[in-house]
Amino acid sequence: MTEQKATNVTWHTHAVSKEDRWNLNGHKGAVVWFTGLSGCGKSTIANAVDFKLHQRGKHTFVLDGDNIRLGLNKNLTFSAEDRTENIRRIGEVGKLFASAGCITLTAFVSPYRSDRDKVREIIPAGEFVEVFVNASLETCEKRDPKGLYKKARAGEIKNFTGISDPYEAPINPELVLDSDNKNIDQLADEVIAYLEKHGIITA
Ligand code: ADX
Repeated sequence: MTEQKATNVTWHTHAVSKEDRWNLNGHKGAVVWFTGLSGCGKSTIANAVDFKLHQRGKHTFVLDGDNIRLGLNKNLTFSAEDRTENIRRIGEVGKLFASAGCITLTAFVSPYRSDRDKVREIIPAGEFVEVFVNASLETCEKRDPKGLYKKARAGEIKNFTGISDPYEAPINPELVLDSDNKNIDQLADEVIAYLEKHGIITA
């Protein structure tokens, strides 16, 4: 648990509720949390879902590990402690985005189960959709879109997830995507089908 350091602060309820915003948009907000190894396709699938839903007039946004680490979380490393803080902050940001009416697609390795579970705990039931983008290490290493696996194998990157740092796969995610065998379009459609089936969006 992150310690509450500020004192004399109280939660304010605002005149426009989350439900008011969702009604205005014509769909619910949610945090669709993609997790998986670097190179498994998280960002690409999140972007494809974003694009398809945007075309359908839905309010969406992608929060992406590499991008967020260049801004909001630029003070964090890849140590276990900093990864935990990275995920905690994104969980809070995702929760705000969902309350603002947005279907928020997050693409972070988020290798630790406990970190993801803490995000699940702060988000109301039904609004957190954990999506395990399942690609084998072999597949990710073969793709190696940023050349990072090569560097990690050469010992040039320490604590690299899958090589010299752990990845804890989800035990009971809402959705598992077979990124070894299916293409981006198919996987994006599976995510959208889940959102329709669970009433986050309607057709
Ligand atoms: S997380 O573990 O804290 O969730 P995050 O998703 O923000 O990671 O960032 C992962 C991205 O940073 C990877 O896709 C990769 O491009 C890059 N990266 C650089 N160093 C590492 C590392 N040691 N482990 C994993 N990813 C790394």
